[in-house]
Amino acid sequence: MKSYFLKPQFYKSYIRPILFSLPPEFSQKIADMVLEKKIFQKLISDNLLVNNPKLTTKFVGIELNNPVGLAAGYDKNCKHITATEKLGFSYLVCGTIINNPRYGNPKPRISRLPKDNALINSLGFPSEGLNQIIHNLNKSKNHNNPIILSISGLNINEILNCYKKLETYANAFEINISSPNTKGLKLFQDHKILKELFIKLNEIRTKPIIIKIPPYTNSKKDVYKSVNYHDKNQIMKIVQTCLEQSIDGITVSNTTPITSNKLQSKSGGLSGKPIFENMIEMIRDIKYEVGQKIDISACGGISTGKDVLEAIKAGAKATQIYTSLIYEGPGIVKIINEEILSLLKENEDLMSLQSK
Ligand SMILES: Cc1cc2nc3c(=O)[nH]c(=O)nc-3n(C[C@H](O)[C@H](O)[C@H](O)COP(=O)(O)O)c2cc1C
Repeated sequence: MKSYFLKPQFYKSYIRPILFSLPPEFSQKIADMVLEKKIFQKLISDNLLVNNPKLTTKFVGIELNNPVGLAAGYDKNCKHITATEKLGFSYLVCGTIINNPRYGNPKPRISRLPKDNALINSLGFPSEGLNQIIHNLNKSKNHNNPIILSISGLNINEILNCYKKLETYANAFEINISSPNTKGLKLFQDHKILKELFIKLNEIRTKPIIIKIPPYTNSKKDVYKSVNYHDKNQIMKIVQTCLEQSIDGITVSNTTPITSNKLQSKSGGLSGKPIFENMIEMIRDIKYEVGQKIDISACGGISTGKDVLEAIKAGAKATQIYTSLIYEGPGIVKIINEEILSLLKENEDLMSLQSK
């Protein structure tokens, strides 16, 4: 009976219609409040954890007990670490964290596309800022799973400062150079400036570094007419810079830039199902370039066990989800992991499927 409440069918029939009748940021606040309630955590207990050695994987040297992590953006201020890990994620990417508190872009800044299981957001890094986030992290030191902190900044010193002050709190860092909603970040999409950042980081770092790249496309057929991909050559130069500077991981990828009249800023980043196929193509390309030298995390439209297996076969070592959590509810990670187990053949495990 207990587990019925955690099934996607229950969420989709009874909870999602209520949440989706409210503005997206308000419904996220309600979901966060529920997540933090002791009674909800008691209901979840260990019901959403799937422990099976066939699901284990290793990403940037970190052992993971399943391939599904929470993508950056859900827990921007690192306030829900113990609650979200109960949803079954093997790791959490928290942030994006920046130096100074910031309101972000004017509202409305998230729009739902329910027919496509997608979202468009133009949040523009609302953040409580580094000092408050350190305070929040100190409150949730008792987590079980690895934490990757997503950090960013408008110049090299801001990113270095975030890294230094947060180093002891994270198992690895994901540097976000790819938010389509914050102009200053595009600076680091210039591979020469990125190289300068990497050289300085390499002088001080003791933790793995992952870079989160923006999307390009090989395809002439766009998912929507109004999408605006990055230039492939520019992204491949970033990948080459990562190879030269011994960066440990690449997250493929951030949201896809798109125009939208529903957002105050008229443009944002598309996430969810429509970006899945392009993300898989990017993984194939990037795996071809980096081989075994850099680990890849797949992020973009993943919502099923089959999607995870496709990403792993294309070259990823781990995956991250965000939008499918909003559409499918708190039981999604368990469903994905159980589906992976049902799709693996008797002698197969995730490690054996990873491309060489
Ligand atoms: C509302 C929202 C906020 C996000 N905020 C961030 C962020 O702060 N930093 C970041 O690197 N990515 C952010 N993302 C992008 C996600 O981490 C992820 O790359 C993207 O949504 C694609 O994955 P998905 O299709 O599983 O959602 C955000 C996405 C959404 C929908």
